[in-house]
Amino acid sequence: MGLLTGKTVIVTGASRGIGRAIAHYCASEGASVAFTDLKVDENLLSLEKELTEKGVKAKGYASDASNHLSSQNLIDEVAKDFQTIDVLVNNAGITRDALLMRMSEEQWDLVINVNLKSVFNMTKAVQKVMLKQRSGSIVNISSVVGVGGNAGQTNYAASKAGIIGFTKSVAKELGSRNVRCNAIAPGFIMTDMTKTLPEEVINEWFQKIPLKRGGTPEEVAKVVVFLGSDLSSYVSGQVINVCGAMQT
Ligand code: NAI
Repeated sequence: MGLLTGKTVIVTGASRGIGRAIAHYCASEGASVAFTDLKVDENLLSLEKELTEKGVKAKGYASDASNHLSSQNLIDEVAKDFQTIDVLVNNAGITRDALLMRMSEEQWDLVINVNLKSVFNMTKAVQKVMLKQRSGSIVNISSVVGVGGNAGQTNYAASKAGIIGFTKSVAKELGSRNVRCNAIAPGFIMTDMTKTLPEEVINEWFQKIPLKRGGTPEEVAKVVVFLGSDLSSYVSGQVINVCGAMQT
């Protein structure tokens, strides 16, 4: 029996990167997995196939997490398809980096909508299901940058810091109904999002990390499994850094 057997997990932005690893780890621990990304493409369909091959129920949905109505419709559809929703993982996120001097209003709005408003949209939609069940675990993917800030990422850092305030408030608001809410703050994780950085920037980051390397999506996924499972039944309102001691 896996750590998540009998539970349904929903993960946003799971066609690649950290979200994909989360979907895989949850399925390996026995969860039924509903996952989203912006469109139905080869990546989404291959993930659905890989998860199903693990012997669990899995379904991919095209849904924009930054859209309020789409998120509500999505949760209604997932609840109908899977009956329960036990774990929500708000993973979808983007960067549009620029120094504040050059940052456009569009870059600001886009990052806040995709990274922060999405968390509001999905959590608000799922809460009715979890409150009815009187149980649930919400895991929000923030970033060390949301805690410590980063030059050139005012929009991204603000969105990720916002997630932390939201997480702590939801934990306090829904705790009496046995719904937990935690955030994970990954450090430098090697995915398509970070691959675009120049090699010297990547090496500079590695030098600053006590473990002297970037993390893998799987190393973030394992913490999601912990927070989604009953292993963490008394953990709520917390931020767990997964960053090789980059931030202590
Ligand atoms: P990624 O860019 O590889 O994957 C993100 C996925 O989200 C993509 O499949 C994308 O299509 C999807 N997505 C984007 N906008 C969406 C929307 N509106 N609705 C639904 N899906 C959407 O990124 P990565 O690296 O896997 O990051 C995942 C999460 O982890 C993000 O929230 C990111 O901010 C966070 N994170 C990543 C770190 C890293 O070093 N890679 C470090 C700290 C946090």
